[in-house]
Amino acid sequence: MEFKLVSKDILELSGQALVVGVYETDELGIFAKKIDDNMNALLSDFLKDIHFKAKEAQCVFMPGHKGIKFKDVIIVGLGKKEELKVDIIRKAAKAAIDKAKEIFHNEIYFEPLGYEILGEKSIEALVDGVVIGDYKFKKYKKDKEDNTTEISNINIVSDETALESVINRAYIISQAANFTRDIVNEPGNVITPKKLVDIAQEISKDYGLKCKVFDHPILLDRQMSGILAVGSGSENPPFFIHLTYKPQNPKKRIVIIGKGVTFDSGGLDIKPPKSMKTMKCDKAGACVVLGILKAVSQLKLDIEIHGLIPTVENMPSGKSFRPDDILVFKNGKSVEILNTDAEGRLILADALIYGSELNPDIMIDIATLTGASMVALGRFCSAIFTQNHNLSHTITKLGSETGEKFWPLPLDKDLEEEIKGEFSDIKNVGSSYGGAITAALFLKEFVGENIKDWIHLDIAGPTFLEKPWKYYSEGATATPLRTILNWLTTL
Ligand code: BES
Ligand code: MN
Ligand code: ZN
Repeated sequence: MEFKLVSKDILELSGQALVVGVYETDELGIFAKKIDDNMNALLSDFLKDIHFKAKEAQCVFMPGHKGIKFKDVIIVGLGKKEELKVDIIRKAAKAAIDKAKEIFHNEIYFEPLGYEILGEKSIEALVDGVVIGDYKFKKYKKDKEDNTTEISNINIVSDETALESVINRAYIISQAANFTRDIVNEPGNVITPKKLVDIAQEISKDYGLKCKVFDHPILLDRQMSGILAVGSGSENPPFFIHLTYKPQNPKKRIVIIGKGVTFDSGGLDIKPPKSMKTMKCDKAGACVVLGILKAVSQLKLDIEIHGLIPTVENMPSGKSFRPDDILVFKNGKSVEILNTDAEGRLILADALIYGSELNPDIMIDIATLTGASMVALGRFCSAIFTQNHNLSHTITKLGSETGEKFWPLPLDKDLEEEIKGEFSDIKNVGSSYGGAITAALFLKEFVGENIKDWIHLDIAGPTFLEKPWKYYSEGATATPLRTILNWLTTL
C-alpha cells in the first residue's frame, strides 16, 4: 500500500474511486458539495432517493457521472458534525476501503475527511483507519474467503503540503501496529521464545538497534529467577532480550518492558480448556515492544529507548516449577509460588530489576497480566497503574484519541498485605479480590527506589479480540502501541 498527498483540484483529478464525507442532517462535506455542484445536484438527489442517513461509517457508492472524472464516488457517513471524533474517521475510512474493494477498486482518492474540523489529527486517523482497518490475519488460509481486490494506492487530496509528514508519521505507526499484530496472531508452535529472539535480531539489523540476548547460562549468571523458573517446564528454552535505540543527543531515557509468554498453559496449575484457548496472545506485550522499537528508529525520535523482553513458554512437565517453590530474586526478595499460572509477574520482576539498573526517567511495562483486569474493566479497556497522576491522565487522554482505551486502577496500599508471604517475603498471588491490583503491587516490589515514574499497563482485555470491533478484525489489536508511540513523540 502506498500513500500520496495529491495537491490538485478535485474536479481536475481522475481515477477509480473518490471517497467523500457526508454529515447527518443533510450536510455534504466540502468535497461532496463541490462535486454535487458540478453535476447538477445528482449526488444530493441520489442520497435523498436512497434515504441515506449519513450515520457513522454508513457507506454507499454511486457510479461516476458527467461533472467528475472518477469511475465511482464512495459516500461515507460521518455522523453529526458537532459530534465528530477522530475514531469516527477511522471507522469511516475502513468502511470506505471495504466498499472500494467490494467494487474492485485498488486505487482510491480520499477527501481529507473531517480535516476542516479536527485538523491534522483527522489525517492521522484516516491513515490509521485504512492501514489498521485493512488488516486481517489470513496467512494460513488457502481459500481467502474475501475474494476482493487488494488496495494498492491511497491518495489524500489536499493543498496543504505540510500534511505529507503527518501522513508519513501515521503510516509508520499504523504499519508498526500491523507488524505487531502479525507476530501476536502467530500461534505458539510458530512463535517460541527463540523465534522472538530471531525477530528482535532481525529488526535490530534492519533498523540499526542494539540487541543483547541472554540465554540460559547468562540468565543463571544474572540470577533472573523468574524467567528461569517459569521457563523450566518447556522444551523451548527461555530468553531475555534487550533492544536499544540510542540517538545522538537523547532528551530522555525510557525503559519499555513487554511480557513475552509465547504460550500460557498455566503450567502445573494448568488452565481449563476455555481459558487456555487464545493464550498465544500472552506474548502481546513483547510484540508491542518490538513494534515500538522498530517505529521509533523509523521516526528518528530523540529519546533513548530500551526495550526489554523476558520470554518464556509456560508449560507443565517434569521440569516445571511448582506451587510451594520459593524463588530468590536479584534484588534479594524471595517469592513463594502459590500458583504457577501467575507467571507473568515473575518474569516481569526480573525485567523490572534489570530495567531499574538502566536508571531511566520513566519505566513502563506492558503485560497481558490478569483476567481480573477484564473483570474490572471489560474486554476493551486496559488498566493503567502509576503513582504519577499526570502521566496517567496524559496517557488516558491520548488513548481516547487513538481509540485505545485506558482506565486507572489504584496501587492500593491496603492490599499489600495480601501478597505478604508466610515462608517468604512475598507470594505471587493475593486473595480472589482485586487481582489486577495485587498483581500490580507485586510488580512494584521490583521497581528500584531510583525510579521516579513507573507505569504498569494491564492489557489482558483489549489485546486480543474474539470478534471484529470498530476497525479491527478478530485477533490481535497491538494495543497500546499507537498510544505509546504518540506519547513518545510528545516527550
Ligand atoms: N496470561 C494470563 C492473564 C490473561 C487472562 C491474559 C486472560 C489474557 C486474557 C495470566 O498469566 C494469568 O494466568 N493470570 C491468572 C492469575 C491468577 C492465577 C492469580 C488469572 O488472571 O487468572
Ligand atoms: Mn498465567
Ligand atoms: Zn500469562
